[in-house]
Amino acid sequence: IKHIGVFTSGGDSPGMNAALYAITKFAEVNDIKVSGFRKGYEGLIDGDLVPLKSHELQKITQKGGTILKTARSKRFLELEGRKKALQTLKANNIDALIAIGGDGTFKGLLAFSEICDIPFIGIPGTIDNDISGTDYTLGFDSAVNTAIENIDKIKDTAESHNRVFIVEVMGRDSGYIAIHSGLVVGADAVLIPESGKDFIYLLSKIKDYESEDAFLVVVSEGDEIGAELVASKVKEINPSLDLRITKLGHVQRGGNPSALDRMLGIRLGVAAVKTILQGKKNEMVGILNNQLHLTSFKEVVKQHQVNDELMELLELFGK
Ligand code: F6P
Repeated sequence: IKHIGVFTSGGDSPGMNAALYAITKFAEVNDIKVSGFRKGYEGLIDGDLVPLKSHELQKITQKGGTILKTARSKRFLELEGRKKALQTLKANNIDALIAIGGDGTFKGLLAFSEICDIPFIGIPGTIDNDISGTDYTLGFDSAVNTAIENIDKIKDTAESHNRVFIVEVMGRDSGYIAIHSGLVVGADAVLIPESGKDFIYLLSKIKDYESEDAFLVVVSEGDEIGAELVASKVKEINPSLDLRITKLGHVQRGGNPSALDRMLGIRLGVAAVKTILQGKKNEMVGILNNQLHLTSFKEVVKQHQVNDELMELLELFGK
């Protein structure tokens, strides 16, 4: 292995730059050149790549976002796009590829592996924490910290006015950010997509609510859940409530990565290069029980579940 390509794909997440630094540093130690493709799969298709040097990346490990930029590429979903990406790899003598992203990114690599047989290794990078094969994804911890910092502030004003506040957090189909942030801020109810009966519970709780205190609901985004839907159901039950909605939105994706995410980026970045040097391919590197762990892309893209212990805590504190 002489030349590794790397890219970030899907939604950016804090810690991606730390992972890029670690990949490049460990590759250099092993006399391997690293090139970064810009804007995810788009850069692969268009041959948009830049050489990466660890001494430059070292300066930005503390920064959120991704210096390589990122995208959700529609063109790569087509065989035509993947063929162009293959030509780019060949033209630049890339002999292994590391992708940092979420399950959409790994689905892309699986499809690509049908026409390209160089080693592909994945690093889980998404704030949603919805990837199997790792306890935590890059960016999740930072996103939860951003969420709780903001919800704590909302609580101050909610308590001053005795208001009902419905705070919506990100996560797409995953309730991880809602569970972690909702439980630690002491929310009165936490609603996640994975658990259907939350609504009924919340509604019965709020029916007799007397406005003598604030009432804080933390809810995941989503078509079947989400702040507006919850607010409309709550209003139906108790129209007199003084209710406000706050959607935290993309603020959760930004900011400097937490110590945990920087460390995760460093561990997974080095592990990705090591895995390539061990001759493996089509595997995602993750951390399970504080140990490095490899999971095949085929396993990774299967549905991710919230574990039973967290569901129990949700039952206890979030309802
Ligand atoms: O997957 C990360 C994520 O932030 C989700 O939590 C959210 O649903 C989605 O990306 C938002 O995507 P976009 O930035 O394209 O609006």
